Amino acid sequence: MTEPVVDVHLAEDHAARALASDARAGLSASPKSLPPKWFYDARGSELFEQITRLPEYYPTRAEREILHARAGEIAATSQAHTLVELGSGSSEKTRLLLDALRDAGTLHQFVPLDVSGSALRDAAAALAEDYPSLLVHGVVGDFTEHLALLPGEAPRVVAFLGGTIGNLLPAERAKFLSSLRDVLEPGEWLLLGTDLVKDAETVRVAYDDSAGVTAEFNKNVLHVLNRELGADFDVDAFDHVALWDAGQEWIEMRLRATRAMRVHVPKLGMTVSFEDGEELRTEISAKFRREGITGELAEAGFELSRWWTDTQNRFGLSLSRAV
Ligand code: SAH
Ligand code: AVI
Repeated sequence: MTEPVVDVHLAEDHAARALASDARAGLSASPKSLPPKWFYDARGSELFEQITRLPEYYPTRAEREILHARAGEIAATSQAHTLVELGSGSSEKTRLLLDALRDAGTLHQFVPLDVSGSALRDAAAALAEDYPSLLVHGVVGDFTEHLALLPGEAPRVVAFLGGTIGNLLPAERAKFLSSLRDVLEPGEWLLLGTDLVKDAETVRVAYDDSAGVTAEFNKNVLHVLNRELGADFDVDAFDHVALWDAGQEWIEMRLRATRAMRVHVPKLGMTVSFEDGEELRTEISAKFRREGITGELAEAGFELSRWWTDTQNRFGLSLSRAV
C-alpha cells in the first residue's frame, strides 16, 4: 500500500485563531451566530456520519442513488486524472466515483480536503489501503480559503457533495464559486450536490430526528467552544431548534437558551449574556431549485453540462464545465 500524503494548510494555531475570531464576532452579534464549520471536531464528524444513517436524513441516500446510477457517465465525460473532493468527510459515497474513474483508466490522484483533521486522516488511510494504485493526497484546509493550494494534474473534477454548499450564506456561496472557478482551467469540472426544495415537513424532520442525533450534533459546537476557548457553556441548558425559512428556502439550526445565563469565555476575555429563550444560529442549510443553481453557476463562470436527480426528486447532482 502507498501511504497517503496529508498536507496541513490549517495548522493548529491558525485554526485556533480562526475559531477565536469567529466566536468573538458571532457571540457579540445580534442575533448571535456561529459558522457551521466548527461542528466538525472528531466527535462532530462522527455524529455527522451517524446522521447520514438516520431514517429521516434523506440527502445522503438520495445522492448515493444518483452517484450509483451516474458515476460511469461522470468518469466517461470528465476523463479526470485527478479527483478533488471538498468537505470530503469520510468520502464514503466518493468510492462510487473512484471505482468508475479507476475502471475508465484515467485516474491518478485523489485529493480530499476537509477542515476536520481526524475525518480527513481516517478517510485517507482507508482509501490508500483500498485503492493501492491511487495516489491519495489529503489536505487539511478550509475550502473558503485554501483552494489555490490544491495539488493535482489536469483534467480535474472537483466534487462538492452532500449539499454542503447549502451551508454557506448566499454571498459566501457566490464568493466560493468564483474562487473555485479562478483556480480551474477552462474545461475542468465541478460536480456539485444540492439538496432540493421540497415540502417543509420532510426537511424539518431531517434536521430534528426522533433519536436526537442532530440535536447532539448541534450542541457539539458548544463542547468545542468549552474545550478550545475555555468557555463554560452549560450545554444542557440549550434546546435544539430546526426552523424552515420559507422565504429564504433554507432550514436553520439554532440553540435556544432555556434560561437567562452568563457564559464566560476566558480565551476571548469575554462574558456573553443570554436571555431566557434567546437563540444562537449555528447553521443554515439552503435547498435549491435547478434554475437557481444553474444561474449561480453561470454567474461564477461554470456551464451546466448534466443535471440528475434521484427517483424521488429530493436531491440534485450537477456536472458543470469551467468556461
Ligand atoms: N461530503 C461528505 C461530508 C459532508 S459533512 C458527505 O457528503 O457526506 C461536511 C464536511 O465538510 C465535514 O467533513 C466538514 O468537516 C467539512 N467542512 C465544513 N466546512 C468546511 C470548510 N469551511 N472547509 C473545509 N471543510 C469543511
Ligand atoms: C454537511 N451538511 C450538508 C449537512 C446539512 O444537511 O446541511 C450538515 C447537517 N446539519 C444537520 N444535519 C446535517
